[in-house]
Amino acid sequence: MNIPQEVARRRTFAIISHPDAGKTTLTEKLLLFAGAIQIAGSVKSRKASRHASSDWMEIEKQRGISVASSVMQMEYRDCVINLLDTPGHQDFSEDTYRVLTAVDAALMVIDAANGVEPQTIRLLQVCRARNTPIITFVNKFDREVREPLDLLAEIEQHIGMDAVPFSWPVGMGRTFRGVFDIRNDRMRVFRPGQDRLGTDDDEFVQGLDNPVLTERFDSEFAKAHDEIELLSEAAVPFDQQAFLDARQTPVFFGSAVNNFGVQEVLDTLVERAPTPGPRQAQEREVRPEEPKFTGVVFKVQANMDPAHRDRVAFVRVSSGHFQRGMRLTVSRTGKEIRPNNVVSFLSQRRDLLDDAYAGDVIGIPNHGVLHLGDVLTEGEKLQFTGLPFFAPELFQAVEVADPLRTKQLRTGLTQLGEEGAIQVFRPAVGSTLLLGAVGQLQFEVVAHRLKTEYGVEARLLHSRYTMARWLSAEDPKELKRFIDGNLANIAYDVVDAVAFLATSSAQLRVAQELYPKVQFHALREHG
Ligand code: G4P
Repeated sequence: MNIPQEVARRRTFAIISHPDAGKTTLTEKLLLFAGAIQIAGSVKSRKASRHASSDWMEIEKQRGISVASSVMQMEYRDCVINLLDTPGHQDFSEDTYRVLTAVDAALMVIDAANGVEPQTIRLLQVCRARNTPIITFVNKFDREVREPLDLLAEIEQHIGMDAVPFSWPVGMGRTFRGVFDIRNDRMRVFRPGQDRLGTDDDEFVQGLDNPVLTERFDSEFAKAHDEIELLSEAAVPFDQQAFLDARQTPVFFGSAVNNFGVQEVLDTLVERAPTPGPRQAQEREVRPEEPKFTGVVFKVQANMDPAHRDRVAFVRVSSGHFQRGMRLTVSRTGKEIRPNNVVSFLSQRRDLLDDAYAGDVIGIPNHGVLHLGDVLTEGEKLQFTGLPFFAPELFQAVEVADPLRTKQLRTGLTQLGEEGAIQVFRPAVGSTLLLGAVGQLQFEVVAHRLKTEYGVEARLLHSRYTMARWLSAEDPKELKRFIDGNLANIAYDVVDAVAFLATSSAQLRVAQELYPKVQFHALREHG
């Protein structure tokens, strides 16, 4: 096996968007294009069943399916593309954030009527912190939407990068005529159609100054023409390095549901998105083309059968060549595992699942041997840096209905905390544990799992806290002074890292002003 060659053809990315912007639709079109699925509607129906009920028990039933489709692998133009699902909506959780640590690029989908929306901004912050390159797709131009120039300005403002249009819309809604491919100087004429697969029958008209375009598309084209000219003078030229450094984002316009403008995005991913890069471990830098296997667990998901504590660890390969049945060592414990029945993800080719290289994801079923952040190697002891824990935004106090089960509650919460299902805080004052999450559903999942897996009936109660910040200070005396002076708001997480819990951003600001030598972190890195 030629590892460098296999690494060079990997592209691993996630789609980030606000609910309803068109992520599911776009995912499906990408899979259709690459031939990874044959039937339009397969991804959609999964989503429909997931969202049919607000009861998360339904989601539980779907877990088997959602494991399989949380990583989608497709081969396109000799590249192997891994698309990692970032659950949105009601299942928004810390997992969503952590998935972004396992990708090399992100595709941002924006609803052209709504612009950049809150959930996208949250996810963008994670991408920005990690300098993840971003490709932008502005969706739904078959509707009456906002002016493309305004959208471009808004993207730049939120993303903090230069937005470089690769294509430009001609008209919108009922007068949507197509998109002008700026880089290839040709217009792709719009033709609606849900499940058009190939683009062979698409019509192109060459040349921005071609009189045919003005004749056929009249005022829509005249407007687009002026805008494109304006941009060619005002906008910065595309620079590949600036894109890889997350200083520029290529922007595309289209309509996912009509499968229009999607191929350009896929082609850009293949041509421009980065191949898997080196990963920093505490001991050394790990290069993707190294012969020995290394990988890191970035997500742990409870599987179908709760009675068996059956979990799937999602491992992003960092280097080497994974083969089914090979012996791997868990760095944290030194334990050896031999994953034979790795979980299958959605892929059009069976053999892609049997071997894995840097950028790929393997799902290893286990009974709690693998924790979040664990590193798997062929024997070397390694700890990767950078698996982040995000400061929770929602808090609930947890009490046990039967005080005799307090021990089980603590055991359960410790394990669920290790798995990353929820964050558990032990306040410095009092004995009530606090749970912290970024998505409401996390609380429901934890309450349910405490009951079914640990036999604990937990009561979740209102908490007045709304923010947490991990604390550090160069001078330990300063930190101690802060802790002593704010004891009622101090808590410790599962690894005993100290945090300040605030009831409002004003309270946090005051604390920051009063103690300038203490640092407040919204993110804690594992290890
Ligand atoms: P999400 O995963 O980001 O939440 O979004 P999803 O793809 O489910 O799309 C949300 C809604 O937007 C869907 O409509 C979908 O059909 C529609 N949509 C996606 N892309 C386009 C587009 O290019 N143009 C237009 N006009 N609509 C688009 P829905 O009514 O919620 O579902 P459905 O019944 O139409 O499937």
